[in-house]
Amino acid sequence: MCGIVGYAGYRDCSDVLVDALSKLEYRGYDSAGVAVFENGEIKVCKAQGKLEMLRKKMQEEGKPQGRVGIGHTRWATHGEPSDINSHPHSGAKVTVVHNGIIENYRELKEFLSAKGVEFVSETDTEVVAQLLNYYYKGDPLDTIIKTISDLDGSFALGIIFADYPERIYAVRRESPLIVGIGKDENYIASDVPAILKYTRDYYLLDHDEIAVLTDSEVNIYDIHKEPVEKTLMTADWDESAAEKGGYEHFMIKEIHEQPNAVNMTVKPRVVDGLPNLEECGITHENIKSFKNIFVVACGTAMHAGMVGKYVIERLAGVPVTVDIASEFRYRSPIVGEGDLVIIISQSGETADSLAALRLAKSLGAKTLAVVNAKGSSIAREADMLVYTHAGPEIAVASTKAYIVQLAVMYLFAFELSLARGKITEEQCRELTLSLLAVPELIGKILETDLEKSQYISTKLLSADSLLYIGRGLDYALSMEGSLKLKEISYIHSESYAAGELKHGTISLITDEMPVIAVATQRSLLEKTVSNIVEVKSRGAMVIIITREDFTIDEKAYDFRIDIPSTDDMLMPMLAAVPMQLIAYYTSVLRGNDVDKPRNLAKSVTVE
Ligand code: AGP
Ligand code: GLU
Repeated sequence: MCGIVGYAGYRDCSDVLVDALSKLEYRGYDSAGVAVFENGEIKVCKAQGKLEMLRKKMQEEGKPQGRVGIGHTRWATHGEPSDINSHPHSGAKVTVVHNGIIENYRELKEFLSAKGVEFVSETDTEVVAQLLNYYYKGDPLDTIIKTISDLDGSFALGIIFADYPERIYAVRRESPLIVGIGKDENYIASDVPAILKYTRDYYLLDHDEIAVLTDSEVNIYDIHKEPVEKTLMTADWDESAAEKGGYEHFMIKEIHEQPNAVNMTVKPRVVDGLPNLEECGITHENIKSFKNIFVVACGTAMHAGMVGKYVIERLAGVPVTVDIASEFRYRSPIVGEGDLVIIISQSGETADSLAALRLAKSLGAKTLAVVNAKGSSIAREADMLVYTHAGPEIAVASTKAYIVQLAVMYLFAFELSLARGKITEEQCRELTLSLLAVPELIGKILETDLEKSQYISTKLLSADSLLYIGRGLDYALSMEGSLKLKEISYIHSESYAAGELKHGTISLITDEMPVIAVATQRSLLEKTVSNIVEVKSRGAMVIIITREDFTIDEKAYDFRIDIPSTDDMLMPMLAAVPMQLIAYYTSVLRGNDVDKPRNLAKSVTVE
């Protein structure tokens, strides 16, 4: 959510800042700004709206010329999106960009106002700028330490001091921030894609660590002003991984990257035909005795957990509860020693999921993180960690990250079932072999179902609302299909357990309510089809996503999308693809901003 960048080097700073911010656009924002040292003076340029507005303003007012500066894309939390509320914010000697929320900003504002400080914006961020300015007596490091000791909440801050035109300061608590290391140039950024064009080397800043950067030097201190030695990280993907590569949108590119993402995630974790998660800290011995498993996550990641629940319960016989992270953390969950809490997160920085992880640990449960972003907070704090290897996911609507989260759920379920003696080694080998074959099957779907999905999207364009139905794993998957459509097409939709329709929702069915039915489970086919017939006979246009080897009466549906067959349990990984495609094309046809849907941010680092 929002993006921070900073640069000290030899290039045109404004250009670098705006370019780096453009790589963070996926995080969602409503305004943008930069502050650059121009001939020793801080020059600020900021504008409400997309980066284009900032570029325009720079042209009109004169682009800040310099080699050192900070930049920001804002996702308003305190005060409406406006030029005035846009970052950077300044006190007399200090200018700041901020990601996060200062929870005690009111009391700090009162304190400063009583001292005669005047505020121009409604933001919590300006309070930070003024507090820094208030404490500043010539030593930036002392000032920052004093200031952050007064702050409650989450923040990543990029700070420049008027007296030190060659330096950038950065500090974080909860909100992510990295320090990019180049040759004769250094960077700060909220995420790796921002700096990939310039360097792949970076440090991950830890909570309350303070970085001091010039073009030639980077020093990092803890809150006691002690220097900290950091491990240099190297991004294992290059700039092209975060570019569209000829596709019209990131989302469709990422849908096509799914076969490779699954391969990258699964193959290294299969040894001698069996799942092996030892490098993730998972052994038969340390997983076999859990009493209960909780999967806690938000949005799409939570939906991956729903699929995990069905598979783990069916195969391994351990009770699984799936929780929305924002509910889990406030509902006094009955979790403790002997339980496992799995946190799933693409970004690894989702505030509610991180809080749920910490709560689970404090209650004595073991924790396992399934995370895509390397070195993120959730990845660092969990007891066990399985990285998904989807590469950077830029589109706000998650696709490839979901598919690999599913893949990890399966690997884990297979290993757990084997560890508990619920399946034989031979059965486990068979299941693993089927999982290894999934990438090829997804590839096939992408070859055969693109046009069909496109055509079906034309039928959904004018709907006000639609329903997804399914049973068992198909229901779990439908939840994700429905979310995908909602978030990018802006058409209301709901996912319903097909057997539950009769208990109320079927009253909504008319010829204006399309129904997307998922039927991939052999044992549930007959029952699902009878639910489909019920909605069809009440006038609904029915689109069925099913397997090529199922025979279904043609009168039961209007359109049929066939997907290849594999083990019933693995079908969600295949059936997800046409759902993603339908959501994508519907959004494109409605002329929406597919990769950056309204009101959404890629990474929700505030509650
Ligand atoms: C996915 O399409 C959504 N935009 C959203 O639900 C997302 O999955 C959720 O915010 C969780 O994010 P995370 O995986 O980074 O924790
Ligand atoms: N809370 C700050 C504001 O509303 C920062 C929001 C952000 O993370 O962009 O300006």
